[in-house]
Amino acid sequence: MKNILFVASEATPFAKTGGLADVAGSLPKAIDKEYFDVRVIMPKYGCLKQSEKLEYIGNFQMSFDWREMYVGLFRAVYDGVTYYFIDDEELFNTQFLYSDDTRFEIRRFAFFSKAALSALETLQFRPDVIHCHDWQSGLVPVYLNEMFQDNPFYQGIKTVMTIHNLKFQGRWNLDETKSITGLPKRCFYSGALEYYNDANLLKGGLVYSDAITTVSPSYAEEIQNPFYGEGLDGLLRLRRNDLRGILNGIDTDVFDPANDPYIPFAFDVKNFRKEKILNKTALQEELGLPVDKKAMMIGIVSRLTDQKGFDLIARVMEEILATDNVQFVILGTGESRYEDMFRYFDYQYHDKCSAHITYSEELSHKIYAASDAFLMPSLFEPCGLSQMMSLRYGTLPIVRETGGLRDSVQPYNEYTKEGTGFSFANYNAHEMMNTIRYAEQIYYDHKRDWNKIVEQAMKVDFSWKTSALKYQEMYDWLTSGQ
Ligand code: ADP
Ligand code: GLC
Repeated sequence: MKNILFVASEATPFAKTGGLADVAGSLPKAIDKEYFDVRVIMPKYGCLKQSEKLEYIGNFQMSFDWREMYVGLFRAVYDGVTYYFIDDEELFNTQFLYSDDTRFEIRRFAFFSKAALSALETLQFRPDVIHCHDWQSGLVPVYLNEMFQDNPFYQGIKTVMTIHNLKFQGRWNLDETKSITGLPKRCFYSGALEYYNDANLLKGGLVYSDAITTVSPSYAEEIQNPFYGEGLDGLLRLRRNDLRGILNGIDTDVFDPANDPYIPFAFDVKNFRKEKILNKTALQEELGLPVDKKAMMIGIVSRLTDQKGFDLIARVMEEILATDNVQFVILGTGESRYEDMFRYFDYQYHDKCSAHITYSEELSHKIYAASDAFLMPSLFEPCGLSQMMSLRYGTLPIVRETGGLRDSVQPYNEYTKEGTGFSFANYNAHEMMNTIRYAEQIYYDHKRDWNKIVEQAMKVDFSWKTSALKYQEMYDWLTSGQ
């Protein structure tokens, strides 16, 4: 039996802002329990969901930022997976997962990384592999190699760094980071944490880890180029032999149109022609849109950031709303410029656009189930899970061909009738609009073809089955001493 520890800043069902939580909450379940014992460690936020499931298991003191600090430990078992939680009132008892105060974020996640390692002896859980996710756990491989090697318990532990989003790197002033983390001076040169005169926590993880993965094969290629590389493409090219792109899966138990407590009408690949549409009319009624089962509904569920292509939408949405026979349903929170944009469209085109500037799991499932198409024109997309969720609910994605969108949506070919969605190549608003209009044309004028695509989309297997095997293979390779 090999022990694997996931270190992540969010994981479903306890805390979620985006896809990282879905992955950290569903991949451990999918790894073969006969050979691997996968556990997850994350912060105990004040806003944790299902907190009644947590039991207190102990505490210890840890030197950090020139002080001895309290580290509390909690545990919960969910869906057969053990989760550990790091507690510290000052750092984690927050109402939101993250803040805009970069210094605070650096401090709390440096603390989290060191505490996650320090806790292992107390927990008597010695991982063979520590699997780190995004910059928040980037210091784990650094601390492990620089400050824990005197203790035989930690010797020989391997590390993996998974990039879910290269844009977020955890950058802060070099001297302050040195002082906060207590890491030796030798870590702060350009071959390690130093990055354009700052400290960069993700870079630390990428330099010190034994293997690197990212969440789709296309993104693994893209990030080796300057356009997608966010300044780290050189390092990623250097480590390309240790870099793998493994496509994410989704939790097919939670996202299952045949068995989803959030949606009013269950459906599957056999009866979607009659049943899926009932979800559309129910949602139209609930949201106050004109109830019209024929009108094409386009859904958006997203963090509202520039990554997701909202600048393209800003450019042509008004034209589409003014002339096309479509209804948009939008769910998201994020940058105020995009929140306000959708509020404006909702106000101005109330019969065609229903925008919900909030976070709601229930509404997200209803949108995946009710919509005909799902718009995701991302500027970059490491993997993207929303388009997979849409596909599973027979909602055809309209995406830009980048990263995981390219790897998971097969563009419709009207000659062979193959495909599961619609896509365009360039980051260009009119290219996106033409693709939306092409989809409208298939939807309205070639309904049989549309339904055939829906059938093809619903049949694709987006479970973790294949990808979990790839992670297992990597854990085996890392621990085989080769
Ligand atoms: P990212 O991780 O970049 O945000 P993904 O597509 O990988 O993008 O994952 C997004 C996840 O977050 C999906 O599970 C999606 O349903 C969910 N999500 C995003 N915004 C909201 C929201 N406002 N309400 C509910 N769920 C949301
Ligand atoms: C990130 C990416 C998204 C990916 C998710 C889970 O948030 O933006 O594309 O699906 O992580 O890996």
